[in-house]
Amino acid sequence: MTKQTTLLAIESSCDETAASVLRGTIGTKKPNFTVLSNTVKSQVQIHAKMGGVVPEVAARAHVANIVPVVTKALSDAGVALDDIDFICPTTGPGLIASLIVGTEFAKSLAFATNKKMVAVNHMEGHLYSSFGTEISNSKSQISKKTPNAKFQNIKDVKFPLISLVVSGGHTMLVYMKDALHYKVIGSTIDDAAGEAFDKVAKLLGLPYPGGPVVSKLAEQGKSNIEFPRPMMNSKNYDFSFSGLKTAVLYYLKSLPTTKYSLQTQQNIARSFEDAVIDVLVTKTIRAAKEYKTNTISLGGGVSANKRLREELKVESEKLKVKFLVPPFALCTDNAGMIAIAAYYKLRAGYKPKKYSSLKADSSWEIK
Ligand code: KG4
Ligand code: ZN
Repeated sequence: MTKQTTLLAIESSCDETAASVLRGTIGTKKPNFTVLSNTVKSQVQIHAKMGGVVPEVAARAHVANIVPVVTKALSDAGVALDDIDFICPTTGPGLIASLIVGTEFAKSLAFATNKKMVAVNHMEGHLYSSFGTEISNSKSQISKKTPNAKFQNIKDVKFPLISLVVSGGHTMLVYMKDALHYKVIGSTIDDAAGEAFDKVAKLLGLPYPGGPVVSKLAEQGKSNIEFPRPMMNSKNYDFSFSGLKTAVLYYLKSLPTTKYSLQTQQNIARSFEDAVIDVLVTKTIRAAKEYKTNTISLGGGVSANKRLREELKVESEKLKVKFLVPPFALCTDNAGMIAIAAYYKLRAGYKPKKYSSLKADSSWEIK
């Protein structure tokens, strides 16, 4: 039976408080949804002063932000709380105190309004983020994070698919036989790719989060330093980035001064970024070949990296597989991607739950 369903998603697993409203049909053969709002209140400025996310501070900020963020998501979507069918919080993985704020707020809302819930894994959100595309009147708007942007489903996702999910907390290759059938075929054995960007930024005396600043510097840099490509040719699909960060540290120690010129910073940034991208792209393409996939997708905060997006697109095209990449607004943490994941879970037969059965789980791993 075809049914219009309206979802309210809530994301608070790390340092962004976010809410989103999605409307779509569940019983149809093909996916059909619109993300009507995607509100994010970032805590980046608070944490930048401390050089990274402070869990206690993040949780307190979520408490202050959650009501205004959810209210704005509803009003941007032009939807009343009464119109919502399911409330869908991220319940893991992430910082436990932060997850508790979003999960328990969502549960209270579900209790007070007698609604059922969909528990979403944060990584499911990143996995499905590339299934949405920005609705735009002019093509020139697509590459920017436009406020009040709306998103709709891309027309066709051809499975099987290999997804590279790269964020501040995770780096994984996921094989998706179908929507909701996924298998993690490799992940990082130490630092995540985003974490490596953050740590290298810190070594260079640059602010948190490191990804955007390092990639901006890299744009003007030369790839003239031979940094290692850890585990690039290992037989499995695992990753390791902590040695690369250490290589940057040793390189910095070898310099005669600790006052790095802009040119030096740019070249280090570019050489480091090249090493990370080489490893990520090489292993993703190898997995796509071995698993004979029809699609390669990218997700997670590091998917905002323009050169990673470009390189993976070029290599996917060489392989003649479709390449999916999230719009910029769905790359770093947001609730639009959580809403899309919840929508796909419902389509795949997920049974919505009563509020009392949901619990924040900081170590909930997708398999
Ligand atoms: O997905 P996300 O918002 O949060 C987690 O779930 O971890 O990812 C944040 C990570 C940070 O490590 C940040 O430095 C990185 O994504 N990032 C980038 C870029 N933009 C954000 N890394 C490389 N290049 C970028 N342009
Ligand atoms: Zn994330």
